[in-house]
Amino acid sequence: MIVFDSIREYMRTELPLEGSLGFVPTMGALHEGHRSLIQRSLKENQSTVVSIFINPTQFDRAEDLKEYPESLSKDKEQLNSLGVDLLLIPTFEQMYPDTFRYEVTEKELSSEMCGAYRSGHFTGVLTVVMKLLNIVRPNRAYFGEKDYQQYLLIRDMVEAFFLDVDIIACPTVRDPDGLALSSRNLNLSGSARVKAPKLHELMRSKSSDNEVRLELAKEGFEVEYVQTKFGRRFVAARIASHPTVRLIDNIALTA
Ligand code: PAJ
Repeated sequence: MIVFDSIREYMRTELPLEGSLGFVPTMGALHEGHRSLIQRSLKENQSTVVSIFINPTQFDRAEDLKEYPESLSKDKEQLNSLGVDLLLIPTFEQMYPDTFRYEVTEKELSSEMCGAYRSGHFTGVLTVVMKLLNIVRPNRAYFGEKDYQQYLLIRDMVEAFFLDVDIIACPTVRDPDGLALSSRNLNLSGSARVKAPKLHELMRSKSSDNEVRLELAKEGFEVEYVQTKFGRRFVAARIASHPTVRLIDNIALTA
């Protein structure tokens, strides 16, 4: 695996790549969810690029950014043994030569659900993904359904700006008890980890969104939203831990 810690160098280098290029952007602290995207890319493409960049512009709370888990040397080892071809680990200064004077903003879906609770979050996501797609120029880029709203916004951005890349959605990977894998789960205390799978259990019930909200609150979750849209039920809730952990999940609703 070739590791690049400079965007300029990555873009300047004649890469020994043949055939289609798959790309998996991440913020590191890799888990089985990330690995599923990477494995899919490895299977469907001749070469695979992974990026690790904790993107500050998509964090609405300084505390969340400070507490975001990191495991760079472990991540590198894993990516190498998976057979990833290239790893890009840029710095903030490289990624934002404009110091974030320019941004990509969507005006509808990005202010709903997660967007309503995390001001500027999706602008940060779309801006960095636009930059990453321009740097890497992949044929296919892989995103998790775990962040379904993010996936939709990226898919539609690519269409809106005529970017020549296929956006591929990959199913949510869960722990056996149903909890959707997330890097932030590393911050769950013992008791919060025991309670966390309740979120998935309750959101799967046939009850109305409002009933699910009440049930979650009864279990001690601080609920942000429970909302049915696009044939899916979306939930976000905070769970008391040190630091507080925000859990999100969504499931397809069957008739
Ligand atoms: P991150 O949270 O590191 O996630 C990287 C990719 O892994 C995203 O596409 C996410 O949806 C996917 N993923 C995370 N948990 C998953 C799970 N349990 N099952 C399946 N896929 C999962 O999402 C981001 O980073 C950032 O917003 C990013 C797109 C890199 C832009 O900064």
